[in-house]
Amino acid sequence: MMKILANDGLASDGVNLLESAGFTVVTQKVAQEDLSQAINNENYEVLLVRSATQARKELIDLCPGLKLIGRGGVGMDNIDVAYAESKGVKVINTPAASSQSVAELVFAHLFGICRFLPESNRKMQEQGSIAFGELKKNFSKGIELRGKTIGIIGFGRIGQSVASYAFGMGMNVLAYDAYDFNAQIKIVINGKEITNIDVSLSSLQDVLAKSDFITVHTPAQADGKALIGEKEINSMKDGAILINASRGGIVDEDALLNALKSGKLRGAGLDVFKNEPTPRKDLLMANHLSLSPHTGAATLEAQNRVATELAEQIIATFQPA
Ligand code: 3PG
Repeated sequence: MMKILANDGLASDGVNLLESAGFTVVTQKVAQEDLSQAINNENYEVLLVRSATQARKELIDLCPGLKLIGRGGVGMDNIDVAYAESKGVKVINTPAASSQSVAELVFAHLFGICRFLPESNRKMQEQGSIAFGELKKNFSKGIELRGKTIGIIGFGRIGQSVASYAFGMGMNVLAYDAYDFNAQIKIVINGKEITNIDVSLSSLQDVLAKSDFITVHTPAQADGKALIGEKEINSMKDGAILINASRGGIVDEDALLNALKSGKLRGAGLDVFKNEPTPRKDLLMANHLSLSPHTGAATLEAQNRVATELAEQIIATFQPA
């Protein structure tokens, strides 16, 4: 019976599928430093991870019995994919399963920032019963999303999902991608496909300069460098709002802090941080931020899709029909 270690957890839909197909699934977390020993001692042949567990060259070398590494999610920056494959270890991920959840978190941050909700929540708890009128005045200059332009940098599955929500709410969309292509965004209302909207890509400069809100959906840069630094932020409209739910480090955190302090940016929404799981405190404490702890893909629906997709791929790999 093949044993699977799902070290960052696996939703029940996937566990059930795998167990029904005869696999043994263990979801008990093993600390990174004990992982190779656990894999070898327990004869795990499949390792499933999210973004927390690292599957690097050293681990792959130490675990010759490993046949497959599965990433429940999109980003593979915690796995040495090419090295694993060169050693005959298959690597899979679930690129489509979480797009919608990430897109919804982008708008959760955006709506929140536009109406000062993060600060308003904090202040209402502290002062709502004694300074209601003053708080009302302080948070009275919110802005609407409808009619505004959202710039989407990185127009893959997640970027396109963001566009579908934006169109649905009457926003204008500008999109940039490193690859040039024309995308069609499907608009579904009441379960019915109403229309397809063609989006042709714009230059990065245009997206930066013409958008009221900018959201980034690119993979981590190969050289680890920021895609959005001081120069790019300076090219944005004064008072723009920036959202990063892609990877920490894609937005330069020093440049972001300066732009929040100077008022160049009206606010920012951050789901990802350079030093996860210990992001810098001065960034977390900055004003006009909406924050979440890398929970873009962390919905019940997305995680059930992730787990089902992983399970189906594992079953197809080891129990071909
Ligand atoms: C991804 O790359 O799929 C997302 O960043 C989600 O990461 P997580 O599975 O660790 O939540």
